[in-house]
Amino acid sequence: MTRPRLYSGMQPSADSLQIGNYIGALMQWRELQQSYDAYFSVVDLHALTQPNDPAELREKTRRTAAQYIAAGIEPSKSTLYVQSHVPQHAELAWVLSTITGFGEAGRMTQFKDKSARYGTDATNVGLFTYPVLMAADILLYQTDVVPVGDDQKQHVELTRDLAERFNNRYGATFAVPRPVIQKDTARIFDLQNPTAKMSKSAESDAGVLWMLDDPSVSAKKIMRAVTDSDGSVRFDREAKPGVSNLLVIYAALTGRQIPAIEDEYAGRGYGDFKKGLAEVVVGEFGPVRDRALALLDDRAELDRVLAANAAKASEVAGATLNDVYDRIGLLRRV
Ligand code: AMP
Ligand code: TRP
Repeated sequence: MTRPRLYSGMQPSADSLQIGNYIGALMQWRELQQSYDAYFSVVDLHALTQPNDPAELREKTRRTAAQYIAAGIEPSKSTLYVQSHVPQHAELAWVLSTITGFGEAGRMTQFKDKSARYGTDATNVGLFTYPVLMAADILLYQTDVVPVGDDQKQHVELTRDLAERFNNRYGATFAVPRPVIQKDTARIFDLQNPTAKMSKSAESDAGVLWMLDDPSVSAKKIMRAVTDSDGSVRFDREAKPGVSNLLVIYAALTGRQIPAIEDEYAGRGYGDFKKGLAEVVVGEFGPVRDRALALLDDRAELDRVLAANAAKASEVAGATLNDVYDRIGLLRRV
């Protein structure tokens, strides 16, 4: 029996991923790759919508791929590749852009937020068509499910609309994918500003736990995390966002339930709790970090793995794109 297909990706927007990426995305991907035919990409073409230093972008792309593998995405089981290695992504994006309404694209809230923040003159057209490229990523692989954060749900809905529109116009061509939205309990907040999502692009480093941080640095950041003056280790998102966030991290990394952790630390104060959490975080990320650094020590081998996976992806993507070109009436080169 063929397994249903899954697609997801992340931008290579930093040297290191942060533990929100790990808990909110990679841990789920790792699990899902067991039951799905999974495709995971490092979406470097999407990253071009932000200014990048060329050498740094290359480095971030390799590092992001290495961290996928270090976190447990198996390149022999899943197809793990770099988006730009498969040229069909940009090609299908062009075709899909011709069936996307201008107003439809303009209603994407991520675009609206970004263009409002930076002004239309500082906003590039790539940012506007970003969701169309994302639709191409997904549709090239006849994807059934797309695990993403809540902020990407609208883009997957657009992808569904485009797939249905194309299928109605030209006949059944694309599978219509379904978003799988990450659980709220998998959302991690900034340690210094626990009402803001932990993010690779945070202004201050102190609130972000980087996957590749030295263990002593992670421990220090946890010990300095913002809490409150109440003193009890108790989950209450509204009244105690800092402590609640630490509890969520603790629970996610240990697989334990929050009430059990509350019980363990009842009457013991934040110092003890933070020390316990630091041990959990260091225990989890120490080995991940070591694996990532080892992979980055042998770039030739990493590049070879990525090339082999891109070749595999290209076969599927090529078949879909051929079908699309035929259906829309492009004269094929003989
Ligand atoms: P980003 O780095 O923001 O592009 O996010 C890539 C993936 O990681 C998405 O699936 C996000 O939902 C997930 N992610 C990013 N930050 C967090 C966070 N603070 N908590 C949970 N998941 C996150
Ligand atoms: N836009 C997604 C994000 O910022 C990344 C992404 C690009 C993606 N292409 C995708 C996610 C295809 C899922 C499927 O998180």
